[in-house]
Amino acid sequence: MAGELEGRVSIVTGGGSGMGRSASLLLAREGAAVTIADVNDEGGEQTAAQIEDLGGEALFVHTDVSSEQDVVNAVARTASRFGKLDSMVTAAGISYAKYVEGDDDTDPFLHPEAGSNLNKPTEAWQKVLDVNLTGVMLCAREAARQMVNEGHGGTIVNFASINAYNPSPVLTDYCVSKVGVVMLTRCFAVEFGPRGIRVNAVAPGPIETPMLARVHRAQVPGGDPWGNVPLQRTAQPEEVAEAVLFFTSDRSSYVTGKTLGVDGGIDTV
Ligand SMILES: NC(=O)c1ccc[n+]([C@@H]2O[C@H](COP(=O)([O-])OP(=O)(O)OC[C@H]3O[C@@H](n4cnc5c(N)ncnc54)[C@H](O)[C@@H]3O)[C@@H](O)[C@H]2O)c1
Repeated sequence: MAGELEGRVSIVTGGGSGMGRSASLLLAREGAAVTIADVNDEGGEQTAAQIEDLGGEALFVHTDVSSEQDVVNAVARTASRFGKLDSMVTAAGISYAKYVEGDDDTDPFLHPEAGSNLNKPTEAWQKVLDVNLTGVMLCAREAARQMVNEGHGGTIVNFASINAYNPSPVLTDYCVSKVGVVMLTRCFAVEFGPRGIRVNAVAPGPIETPMLARVHRAQVPGGDPWGNVPLQRTAQPEEVAEAVLFFTSDRSSYVTGKTLGVDGGIDTV
């Protein structure tokens, strides 16, 4: 498809839902061929079908981002199908260990005592770090290896969160994983800048996706949970996709190592 990313090839992790899906669709609308890498087979296939309906090229590869073998496979399948890799977007993430399973009993928004550091099992902490931080590292590293081997530059866009800066005691593992993504982004940017690979991140505030829906259902009706947001509202995933497009396209050609808050100004107050 014609557009700013015509002829480019991207992988979007977590592309089966929420912001990963919105980013996949926007990159495809701008002409990129997109591989959707997700554990959610149904959602991933749906996103791929939506891209094909737009006239774009898409591939779904079942991928657990915390599995090195899965990530290596997703990059290899992408290069084999589309001939190369130009950009990686790491949107896959979980807010608590059993998020994908939809386990209500350990949902820290419904049951803050389950998220308390006094009660959380070590394996729950480890799972969040494995997906949100090691998963981002594996995807960024394998993308960089592929780009270096292909002998051209590229872009990597990671997903941090406002929780990289704002502590939430029931989400300590999540907050720590996200501030780790901010530093990982800076380290990768410094290492791979000389190779022409730019590495940036977005740090979303409250965005209307299935992840935020879990937070909404735990809130007391009638309250104003977003009163601390200067723009006084939540946002749609498409508003974050615009920032992903900025970092993926040549519009940000002299920007690397940065984490951009797409947060209605929360980080400012
Ligand atoms: N929604 C928000 O308010 C918000 C705010 C800040 C940051 N974030 C971050 O944005 C990113 C996207 O979240 P979202 O809100 O679109 O949520 P979402 O639940 O709609 O999408 C997350 C996707 O990640 C996938 N995923 C989970 N574990 C995976 C794994 N191990 N391997 C591969 N895929 C996996 C899920 O299947 C899902 O498709 C996440 O990193 C999240 O932490 C979300």
